Amino acid sequence: MNAELNFLWRRRSVRAFAGVPVSESQIRSLLEAAMAAPSACCRDPWEFLVIREKGLLKAVADCLPNGRFLADAPLGILVCGDIRRAHAESLSYLLQDCAAATENLLLAAPALGLGACWLGIHPREERIAALRSIFRIPEFLIPVAGIAVGVPEGKSAPRTRFDPAKVHDAGEWTL
Ligand SMILES: Cc1cc2nc3c(=O)[nH]c(=O)nc-3n(C[C@H](O)[C@H](O)[C@H](O)COP(=O)(O)O)c2cc1C
Repeated sequence: MNAELNFLWRRRSVRAFAGVPVSESQIRSLLEAAMAAPSACCRDPWEFLVIREKGLLKAVADCLPNGRFLADAPLGILVCGDIRRAHAESLSYLLQDCAAATENLLLAAPALGLGACWLGIHPREERIAALRSIFRIPEFLIPVAGIAVGVPEGKSAPRTRFDPAKVHDAGEWTL
C-alpha cells in the first residue's frame, strides 16, 4: 500500500464510539469535505441534515436495521438529494453525487481524528418512508445515506481490498 495514500487506507467503517462529542468545527470540516465532491454538471443536489440530539439519533437508528449503533454515536448526518436540482432531474445522477459526497465525508473523518460509517438507506423504501415521517422530508428530497460519526472507541487497521482479478486489460473483453 502506497504510504502517500494512507488517507485512503485509514478509512474504515467505525461502529463503536467513545463518549466524546464532535465539535462544531469538525462538523463544518466534514461538511466542507462532503461538498468538495464531484457532482454531475456541478449541480450539487445534496442536502445534509445534521443530527446531534440523542432522542433523534435513537429514532433514526430505529429505522435502520443495520445502523442500530447510531443510537450510541454523538453525531449522525443524513445525506439527501434534491431531485429538482440533480442533473437532468435524474435519480441516477442524484445518487452518484450523494454517494461521492458521502465518501468524501468518510475520507475526511480519520484526518480529523474521527471515525464514521455509511448507513444504507436508499433504495429501501421502508427506511426512506420512516425517515420522511420523522423529519417531515418533502417528496423532492430523497434520503440516500446516513452516516454515524464519532471518536472511534478502538483502532481498525488500515487496509485495501485490492484484488488483481478485478482488473482487466482492455483487450480481455474484446471479441
Ligand atoms: C451503500 C452502502 C451501504 C452501507 N450500509 C451499511 C449499514 O447499513 N450498516 C453498516 O454497519 N455498514 C454499512 N456499510 C459499510 C460497509 O459494510 C463497509 O464499507 C464494508 O464492510 C467494508 O468495510 P470498510 O468500510 O471498513 O472498508 C455500507 C456501505 C455502503 C457503500
